[in-house]
Amino acid sequence: MKKVLLAVLTVGMLSLTSCGGEAKKGTDAAEDATDKTVDAAEDAADKTVDAADAVKDAADKTADAVSPKVAKGKELFAAKGCVACHKEQDKLVGPALKDIAKVYAEKKGNMVKFLKEEADAIVDPAQFAIMKANLAATKVLPGEDLDAITSYIRSIK
Ligand code: HEC
Repeated sequence: MKKVLLAVLTVGMLSLTSCGGEAKKGTDAAEDATDKTVDAAEDAADKTVDAADAVKDAADKTADAVSPKVAKGKELFAAKGCVACHKEQDKLVGPALKDIAKVYAEKKGNMVKFLKEEADAIVDPAQFAIMKANLAATKVLPGEDLDAITSYIRSIK
């Protein structure tokens, strides 16, 4: 009788142990699954951030990209020696291009006419004598070059 009881107890304990083992396996599997889900979510979040960065980069590039006309104007502005007296952001001998652009926008001035010597100076008329010498060179430029140069100046903010 005692032997039978012992056997029953042994079997019972064995099955309990194995049951506990199963439960532990289950917990491990659940933890693994949770880890994997967290990892996947983090990966996905990283990818979303990367994608957002890529979109932002593309948008920045579009904003920076200048039209061919403005690019040509900038080249002409350098080639014609205008850069000796004008910088984009700061006053040099002549006003900064951003200030010329601002005045022409506010007063709705005609910059092409100014460069053809057909309109008066509106930015700094007191200093016009210094600028006047350059109009000999600008007034003989083809219309499309004047259009490019003035588009470039007006594009500076
Ligand atoms: C020797 C220096 C000098 C050079 C070179 C020069 N500028 Fe100027 N520029 C000035 C000065 C000074 C003024 C301010 C006087 C004025 O407003 O006319 C001025 C003014 C201007 C203005 C504003 C005119 C206004 O309505 O008052 C424009 C536009 C301009 N320059 C374009 C050019 C271009 C384009 C070139 C090259 C072809 C050029 N400048 C070369 C000195 C220079």
